This record gives sequence, structure tokens and C-alpha cells, in this order.
Amino acid sequence: MANNTRNISDYSKFIVDLRRHMWMAGIEMDLRRLIWQIAITGKYISAKIHESNRKLAGLRNIHGDEQLALDKSADIILQNQLQYSGFVKAYCSEELDRIVPYEAASSKYHVTADPLDGSSLVDTNLAIGTIIGIHRDSPLAAEGRKTMVGAMYITYGPLITMVYSAGKGTHEFVLNREGEYVLSEENITLDEKGSIYSLGGLRKDWFSGHLKFVETLEGEGYKLRYSGGFVPDINQILIKRGGVFTYPGTKKDPKGKLRLIFELQPMAFLTEQAGGMATDGKQDILAIKPEGLDHREPIYIGSRYEVEKAREFLT
Ligand code: F6P
Repeated sequence: MANNTRNISDYSKFIVDLRRHMWMAGIEMDLRRLIWQIAITGKYISAKIHESNRKLAGLRNIHGDEQLALDKSADIILQNQLQYSGFVKAYCSEELDRIVPYEAASSKYHVTADPLDGSSLVDTNLAIGTIIGIHRDSPLAAEGRKTMVGAMYITYGPLITMVYSAGKGTHEFVLNREGEYVLSEENITLDEKGSIYSLGGLRKDWFSGHLKFVETLEGEGYKLRYSGGFVPDINQILIKRGGVFTYPGTKKDPKGKLRLIFELQPMAFLTEQAGGMATDGKQDILAIKPEGLDHREPIYIGSRYEVEKAREFLT
């Protein structure tokens, strides 16, 4: 290979695992190590899901001990993995609702986590997931576009998959039977326009602009795809190369349901890196400065055509 350029296709005859992929993509060493450490937690969280036997919380095991809620267990697994990693300056998660500083002088990164998003779907055996944001500064310091350096999610479905971006495209890996994350989709790129829509919130509570937007998509023949799990619903749009997911502001909750720091920013980062868009209907999700850890926003995310179309009806 001339001039030392790293080109993944040159390696296509080999299995490309996550560490090799990040190295070839030229991602900075500590960030590579951090993403790797988080990806590994997917194995432990998945083991907990299996162990729970589809029950969520408040159960007793065969010894009569109280079991932790799955979300809480997933959070503890992440904290244990990250606290002494040496790469994490502070951690915050949906489970904690406060920023926990870690005492590692040289560490660079702030990590946000939704440890087990959609966990109420565990009993139905639908896919659920872990969502991670990686920031170079406190997520509260500025809008996501200024603080974020990476994002990832892990899906626990029939397969365990992991999608990450460190600002050099969005890539999917599958956890194989040997316990390695193997590249399955490199440089995921959304089509300009898709054919599926995923709609959160109750129709009776939608504002008229949102309703008209949805009716327009319906007139164009979009197919409904909504599982109630943010991770698999976004994953479907990325892997099928287009479409739109919305959880709008409603008459009941004008700021919508989903949380900016823990859910929206990471998915916006991954979607933008895949050539798509993410807005609250007016401005980019990554242009919004969080007002607090609990900040919520409406979301329109996916292919450019649908997200821009939403803006026409909402502004
Ligand atoms: O925020 C949790 C969550 O379960 C998301 O994963 C999902 O997109 C959304 O809520 C589903 O909300 P609803 O049950 O109102 O459709």
C-alpha cells in the first residue's frame, strides 16, 4: 500500500474486528480504547438480560436475594468498566441523573449512558439497547456539536450488534460466537429519502403541523415501523438506509419524551455521520445546548428528505 494510507477494502479478505477497524480508521488511541471497553460491556449486559429471564426488577433469586432492576445492573456494569479505565473523567447516566467525577488526572472523556433503553420490552423479547455519548467536555458545557467526539449503541436482539462513530463515519459490528465484534457494515450511508416511518406519541395529542407531516408521508406510501424501543427503531433506519423516526412534542408533553443528552445526542451524532439529519423540527439536535441532564426535546431523525419535510410543517 503506497504512502501508508489505510484503506479497509485492502483488508477485506480478513475478518475486521473492532480494534483493527478503529486503528485503520486512524482514531486516537485513548478514544479507541474507550470505545472498546464500552463495547465489551455489551457482553456482560447481555448476560444479565439472559439471567433475568425476561423479568425486570424486584425479583428474588433462588437464594431469596433481591435482584437489581436490569437497568440498574447495566448501569453498574458500565460504571465498573469505566471508573478505573483511565480514560473517563466523568460519567452520567439515565439511572443516576447526576454527573459522577472519576479521579483520573490524565483522562479526557466524559461518558453519557442510557444503560438499558427500552427495558420495559424485555418481557416481550423485543430488541433493546445501550446508548452511549462520548464528550471531550461536560455534556452540559455546550451544544453537542462542540462537546461530542463519539457515540455508540449496542442492540440486544437475535444478534448483539454495536454501531459506533468517532467522527469518521458510522459502522456496524456483530458480536460473533468467539466473542469478537466483527465488522458487518462499514460507512453506513442513508439514502436521501427512505420508505419507512416510526412514530412515537399518541395521535390524539399531536399538534396539527406534525399531523400534516405524517399525513404527507402516508400519502407517499411510507410503511409504519415502530417497536417502542429507540435503539432498534433507529437501528432499523440506519441498516435499511433511510426513513424517519419521530417522537414529537405533544399537547401533553410539548418537549416530547426522549432525553437530549442520553438518547438524542448520541443518535444524532451517529445519524449525521451516516449522512442523515436530526432536528427537533426546527434546529439541529446537536445545535441545542442542554439545560440540564433531564432536558427533553422532540425528535425528527433519519434521511434528509423526511427531516427537511418535517421542518416545512413545523416552522
Ligand atoms: O425512552 C424510553 C423509550 O422506551 C424509548 O426507547 C422509546 O423510543 C420510547 O420510550 C417509547 O415510548 P412510547 O412507549 O411512548 O411509545
